[in-house]
Amino acid sequence: MKETNSWNPNEYSKHTAFVSQLAMPVVDLLDPKKGEKVLDLGCGDGTLALEIQSKGADVIGVDLSKEMVEVAKSKGIKAFVASVTNLPFESEFDAIFSNAVLHWVKDANLAVQNIAKSLKGGGRFVAEFGGKGNMQSVVEAMEEVFKMHPEFGEFNNPWYFPSVNEYKKLLEEFGFKVEYIELIDRPTPMSILAKWLDIFANGICQNLTNKQFEVFKQEVEEIAKSKIYSNRGWILDYVRLRVRATKL
Ligand code: BEZ
Repeated sequence: MKETNSWNPNEYSKHTAFVSQLAMPVVDLLDPKKGEKVLDLGCGDGTLALEIQSKGADVIGVDLSKEMVEVAKSKGIKAFVASVTNLPFESEFDAIFSNAVLHWVKDANLAVQNIAKSLKGGGRFVAEFGGKGNMQSVVEAMEEVFKMHPEFGEFNNPWYFPSVNEYKKLLEEFGFKVEYIELIDRPTPMSILAKWLDIFANGICQNLTNKQFEVFKQEVEEIAKSKIYSNRGWILDYVRLRVRATKL
C-alpha cells in the first residue's frame, strides 16, 4: 500500500499533540497488562506505545512512515515500517491497539483481516479512529474547492469513516465479538485550520503547486468558517469511532 500523506514528525508533534493526549481513554479501554504482547498499529512517533509499555506490556509498533518509526525507536519502542494491510504476523499478539490511523485505510476489509490474523485466539482489538461524519465540514469544503478548480484534478477522498453498524458487521465477519462500539462527537479546538491542512491534506494535494496549495487552504478556510469558526476560534468537528472486540 502506498502512503497517501507524508509526515513531518516535528510539525506533527508541535501542532497535533492533542491526537495522543485525547487518546488516553483508549489506552484505558485496552487495559494493558504486564507481560502481554501488544501491537500498536500505526504507532506514529511512539507516544502511546510508550504509555502502553509503561504498564509493563511488551509493545511492538508498526507504521507506514519511516520518519515516524525512527522517532518511535529513539524513544525505546521496538518499531518497524509495515502496512496495516500486509502485516507479517500470525496469532502473535494478546492485544492490538490503534489510534487515529484506521481512517487512512480505505480497504477496511483487508485491514480487519490482517488484524484478526495477527491476534491470538481470545486476543482483543481496541481502536479509535474517525467515524461517520468525521470532519464533515472540512471534507465537504475540500471537495467544493476541488470542484471550483478543475485544474487541481480529481478530489480523491483518502478517508474511511464508518458507522457503528458498518464496522461492527465487518468485525463480526472476521470472527470478532464486539463488546463495545460507539461514535463519539469530539469537537476539537485547533489554532489554525491551515496548519491542520498542511499536516493532514498534503497527500490529497500532492499534485498541486505550492501556490495552488495556498489557494486551496485559503478557500477551504473561507468555506468551512461559517460552520466551525466562532469567537472561540476553530473547533474541528471530529467524530471518533471507539471499539473493543475479542477474536473468538
Ligand atoms: C482524524 O484524525 O480524524 C483525521 C485526520 C486526518 C484527516 C482526517 C481525519
